[in-house]
Amino acid sequence: MKTLELRSGTRMPALGLGTWKSEPDEVYRAVRAAIEVGYRHIDCAAIYQNEEDVGRALSDAFQAGDAKREEVWVTSKLWNDSHAPEQVRPALETSLRKLQLDYLDLYLIHWPVALRQGVLLPTGPEDFIPLSEIPLATTWEAMLKASEQGLAREVGVSNFSKQMIKRVSEETGRTPALNQVELHPYLQQDDLVAACKMLGVAVTAYSPLGSPDSAAMMGRHDEAPLTRHPTIVQIATSHGATPGQVLIAWALARGTSVIPKSVNPGRIAENLAAGELELSATDMAAIAALDEHRRMVDGSFWFLGETYSPQTLWDE
Ligand SMILES: NC(=O)c1ccc[n+]([C@@H]2O[C@H](COP(=O)([O-])OP(=O)(O)OC[C@H]3O[C@@H](n4cnc5c(N)ncnc54)[C@H](OP(=O)(O)O)[C@@H]3O)[C@@H](O)[C@H]2O)c1
Repeated sequence: MKTLELRSGTRMPALGLGTWKSEPDEVYRAVRAAIEVGYRHIDCAAIYQNEEDVGRALSDAFQAGDAKREEVWVTSKLWNDSHAPEQVRPALETSLRKLQLDYLDLYLIHWPVALRQGVLLPTGPEDFIPLSEIPLATTWEAMLKASEQGLAREVGVSNFSKQMIKRVSEETGRTPALNQVELHPYLQQDDLVAACKMLGVAVTAYSPLGSPDSAAMMGRHDEAPLTRHPTIVQIATSHGATPGQVLIAWALARGTSVIPKSVNPGRIAENLAAGELELSATDMAAIAALDEHRRMVDGSFWFLGETYSPQTLWDE
């Protein structure tokens, strides 16, 4: 199993299982199947509303002797309605209780967006809190404190731009361990990946398969799935691999961690086996040419008022 070294020297398993959109009953079986075939990294979040089922699966897997707690890397994320510093620890404790864990391996600020407490998804401008009211650095300090208190071994961020990482690092003197962002051949973000590397921030690639199951939810229509792109299919055929495996191997070859989601036992095993696939320099060059700077999770659900816009969210 490939690992990724964080700035602290801690190593995280590079390939993990995503759990967004996995229904509660599906995610139990998915996590059990994943641990059975050898996954040692599960990516969760409070907003996925399935942490209790992931927790049951983890607990049963530990009891069955499929893995030990200390062998499985568990990530979760702080939802946007808990950015106020006094809400961070309670939110983390709620995730721990649902996941039936004493500590997380990694806890991330899910989005650089603050919502009023109790708001899961905003329906109007009044649901947002401007970052001038709760600056990201304030939330970040509370994350650091929770980590120091032993609730999370590592803390980091998600969907942060280079500028946001620099700002919170400068304002607190502490740099996030990791930034989890969308990365796949249509959205390669070379600049952001390079900037994170320079800053000593590890990177996890989310939606590595192009997130086909979020298309309707995100208002993406008539989308040609990334797994059917002729270049990806051709590279897969040349290696006797599947397109999904090529996409995962590409993410690993770039030095990022990667968290493909599946609830299908066959694809769960297939995706793990991508860890053995080595792409050639020619394959990597062919995939580099596919970049369109196209987001699958474009953040448009945050652009309901004037608080956030594509410019302020992505710094581009
Ligand atoms: N931090 C954030 O804001 C953020 C945002 C998005 C995602 N994430 C994390 O990243 C994870 C992955 O991203 P994602 O869920 O958006 O999408 P993804 O992993 O790119 O794609 C998942 C979809 O691909 C299918 N699939 C899985 N393996 C496949 C294979 N080998 N070949 C073809 N299709 C395959 C899945 O179907 P089946 O389930 O039926 O196999 C599902 O429809 C999430 O689950 C979540 O943990 C984080």
